[in-house]
Formats: sequence, C-alpha cells, structure tokens
Amino acid sequence: MPSIKSHFPIFKAHPDLIYLDNAATTQKPQIVIDAITHFYTHQNANIHRGIYQLAAQASQAYENTRTKLQKWLNAASRKEIIFTKGTTEAINLVAQSFLMPRLQKGDEVLISQMEHHANLIPWQLACQQKGAILKVIPITPTGSINQAAFEQLLNKKTKLLAITHISNTLGTINPIKKMITKAQEKDIPVLVDGAQSIAHYEIDVRDLEADFFVFSGHKMYAATGIGVLYGKKKWLESMTPYQVGGGMIRAVNFETTIAAPLPQKLEAGTPHIAGVLSLSKAVDFLQNLDQKAARKHLQELTNYAHQRLQSIKGVNIIGQAPEKSAIVSFVIDQIHPHDIASFLGQAQIATRAGHHCTQPLMEYFQIPATIRASFAPYNSFEDVDRLVETLVETQAFFAG
Ligand code: ALA
Repeated sequence: MPSIKSHFPIFKAHPDLIYLDNAATTQKPQIVIDAITHFYTHQNANIHRGIYQLAAQASQAYENTRTKLQKWLNAASRKEIIFTKGTTEAINLVAQSFLMPRLQKGDEVLISQMEHHANLIPWQLACQQKGAILKVIPITPTGSINQAAFEQLLNKKTKLLAITHISNTLGTINPIKKMITKAQEKDIPVLVDGAQSIAHYEIDVRDLEADFFVFSGHKMYAATGIGVLYGKKKWLESMTPYQVGGGMIRAVNFETTIAAPLPQKLEAGTPHIAGVLSLSKAVDFLQNLDQKAARKHLQELTNYAHQRLQSIKGVNIIGQAPEKSAIVSFVIDQIHPHDIASFLGQAQIATRAGHHCTQPLMEYFQIPATIRASFAPYNSFEDVDRLVETLVETQAFFAG
C-alpha cells in the first residue's frame, strides 16, 4: 500500500529509510503529530480540575477519547476503558490490583512459552510473593501453542490465564477466542496482551469475551507513553488501586481516603493528555484504513520475505506457525544478529536484533538472539528486496 506512506512525515525527512521495526513501534501519521502539537499550542490545561474554559475543553477531549475507544473496542461501558502508560503498566495494574488479592499459596497462573517479559515478570513476582506457581504452556518447534498441553494445564488452581494475541518475536497468531472459551469453561479469567495485534485486527472485546485486553498506543500509530487497559466492569470495580494520589479520589482526610468511581479510581495523577488525544487520531487513522486490504498486503509481504529469506543459504527463520502476523525473525549461520543489524543499519534498514524481551523463548530455540523484520502497511516489496540484498552483502563481507 505505497500510497499510505505519504501520511508519514518521517519518510520525507529520511527518504532512504527502510523501516522494518514496526513491532517495536510504528511511525506516526501527520494527523497524530498534529493532534499533539495542537493540544500544546491551543488546548493545554490539566483535566478534571480547572473550571475555566480551556480546562473544561481538555477534559472533554480526553473523555471523548475514552468513549471513542469504548466504541472502537465494542466495550459495554466507557468505565471499562482505563488509560495507562502502555501494555506493561496495564499488566502490572492487573497483577497487583486484580490477581494479588485473589492469589493464595499453591495457586497457579498460566502463561505461555512465547510471552514477552511484560507478560511474564509481573505474574512471576505475584507468584513469588504469594507462594503460587507460574505454569508455562509449551510451544511446538514451529512456534504454535501446544493446545493439548494448554487444556491439560487448566485446572481448579489456575487463577488467571495471561496470553499474547500475537507473539512479538515469532509473529504467531494465537487462537485466543478458543483459548478464552476453554479457560472460562473452568471459570478462569483471561488477560490478552494485544500489543502486537491492535494495529492489524479489529478487536471486539465483547465477542472475544476477554476479561482484560491490554495494548500500547505507540504500536498503533499513536504517541509513546499511552496505552489502554480494557477490563470487564465487574473486575475493575472489585480492584483496589495500586497507584494512589491526585485525580483518583472522592474524599480524603488524614485518616482515610475514599476512591472515586471508575474509571478515575485507576488513573492516579495527571495523565498523558496529549498521548490520549494522539490515540484518538490514531483510531481515526485506523478506521479510515482499509484494514482488510492492509492485512492482505502484510500477508503477501510476510510470505514474500519468508520465500526470499529461505532462498539465502545459512538463513533459518525462527517461527513458522501456520497463522502468522507480519513479523519475521531469523538467524544466519556464523554471524551474530547484532552484527547483521548493525550492517543493515548502515544501509538505512531498521530492524531489531536481540532477544526481543523474550529470553525464555530464546532458551527454547537455543539461540541468544534473532534479527527481526516487522512490517506495517507502508512497507513495500522493494523494502524486502533491499533487506535481502543487504543480507547477502553482509554474508559476503563476513565470508571474505
Ligand atoms: N515489545 C516491543 C518489541 O517487541 C518493544 O520490540
């Protein structure tokens, strides 16, 4: 979808840039950048405090975005949309305020082998503090969840299933609807990490029946430092805030504090107002995008990248699940991924090399790191060609 590239000013500033690090963060369209500038130029005021016009307008714009997100995600109530710093903060909030009070010694929390650290460490910590056990669903060598093992692991002691929708390292698309149904048949609540799916799939939280669905704005064209926790109202209402302070109270004296109702009670402190407004424009951007055509383009790019990479001797693609998103991780014999990414960087090709915050997954594949190319609709087949040509040159350099 080359026409879409013109919406992203970074490509005018860097005409030679081949940006293949979209799983880390997407580039920002002009309307998102304009929304941030507009806020600080014309609207800047704190929200939910001042009674002057500017403050009222900023509060209104912030709350209108909550309503927009509610509709976009098809949540039952705007109170189910909590603004956070991002995926990581949303998961920490659920771990501390939802899981911890419910977790007892000997209980279990279920995650998968492919979770990134943000969907692993908060649960690990909660389990350590409560004497509970973190259970891990194994994966297959191609990078799919072992569904039979998953079903066997669900039991009366399981207090939560926390699962990624799409693996940030392998690109595997997990069958989350099916997994949510299986878990809920046993009354186990489910958190879905949507960080890598939110930009590519229309999410309907009511259809999914997810108890919690979390994502970051910056991976869906909005600013960094803003994200969303969607949670079923019954759960959010039962949660005691783990961050307290201004903006989340109904009444305070030196003896006690009464929390405000949802959603304010889970949004302590001055929020990232400009970030929320950027999220609003990012939703507009996605709603104006032909998502079906974008997915088709990304699927073709991913297939093309697989096919071209596999034709290079010594390249091994890590993660070849039948259902894959636009993420291709690979290693090359005898050359460290960081050396390759550095060569690619010199040729203006942005990829990510490393463990991608999934060290246990690297352990499973017995590799220290991979190179990861991750696509967005503004990427082209020529971008893949440039990647492949530069990899071949890199190999020749190291062989020589
Ligand atoms: N989770 C982000 C990535 O996969 C940072 O690169």
